[in-house]
Amino acid sequence: MSNRKIGMWLYSNGGGDKIQKKIIKKLKERDIETVNNINLRKAIAKNGHILHNDVKLDKLDLFFSYNAGEQTQYQMYLYQALNRVIPMINSYDAFALTEDKFHTSFVLRNNGIQTADYKLCHRDDGHELKKIIKKWDKMVYKPTDGWGGVGLTKIESEANLDMLMPFLNQMDLRYFYVEKFITYDNTDFRVDIVNGEFVSCYGRKASGTDWRTNVTSGGSVFMREANDEIIDVALKACKATGVDIGGVDIIYDQEKEEYIVLEVNGIPAFATPEQEKMGLNFNNKKIDLIVDLIDKKTKKK
Ligand SMILES: Nc1ncnc2c1ncn2[C@@H]1O[C@H](COP(=O)(O)OP(=O)(O)O)[C@@H](O)[C@H]1O
Ligand SMILES: [Mg+2]
Repeated sequence: MSNRKIGMWLYSNGGGDKIQKKIIKKLKERDIETVNNINLRKAIAKNGHILHNDVKLDKLDLFFSYNAGEQTQYQMYLYQALNRVIPMINSYDAFALTEDKFHTSFVLRNNGIQTADYKLCHRDDGHELKKIIKKWDKMVYKPTDGWGGVGLTKIESEANLDMLMPFLNQMDLRYFYVEKFITYDNTDFRVDIVNGEFVSCYGRKASGTDWRTNVTSGGSVFMREANDEIIDVALKACKATGVDIGGVDIIYDQEKEEYIVLEVNGIPAFATPEQEKMGLNFNNKKIDLIVDLIDKKTKKK
């Protein structure tokens, strides 16, 4: 059988460098060679090829992209082109979908998966927002391409919205995306899925002064078990969005009395060395499932 060769781009902070080494070693044991540190930012396309340090990326058997969520237009453009000719994890379509909160909610709802109620309207439809706040009482304005809780704005009343509108209008947005503010206990579940299999679950809790659970917004990680319902929701969310690897953020809506999906992350982090000390010990299982997945997707017929 001819040798298989894949490309990889995985983050190195937070213990990522060690994860890279483990993955490369385990792939090697299966006769799969890895060209590491392929940042499409440094690649060049030339006729039928995409070149990175003289490696023809289009000749690889697969590309495993697991670094920055927020990528530049150039990186995304090449990601898309490369995925037209070789398999990628995650696929370009799935990755691009999960990078957008509106498209993700839209697809999830279309597949019968509960999310926060949301509305999207043209930026000139300010009166639509007025109607919404009357109905919903509290809502969250969200940039559709944000991360880490950045830019999320809680709007608690009509007066609040009136105050905010001039600022939103100034920002030259194309549209408004707002969600109903969910009454929940300020904790969430992060459920990791690889290739349709449950890997792990942990929780995050917002700090006393913030309603957002993101660590970047002061939230903290804690040990938390999933139940069958949560795992089922996470599996369905990954299937609907088409991600091979996904980290699904789930909260419990106290009004609707059901679990809802907030978002699907296409590059969910491995446990950091500190989190491993806390007892989050899913890294090896996740690595094994990823190696299995790469093996499966590169099998020569
Ligand atoms: N509709 C909502 N109602 C209440 N809290 C929310 C809502 N949407 C998000 N949050 C809180 O804000 C955090 C960040 O929102 P999320 O949609 O995951 O964006 P980000 O990509 O910035 O993490 C969530 O973890 C959750 O704690
Ligand atoms: Mg989030």
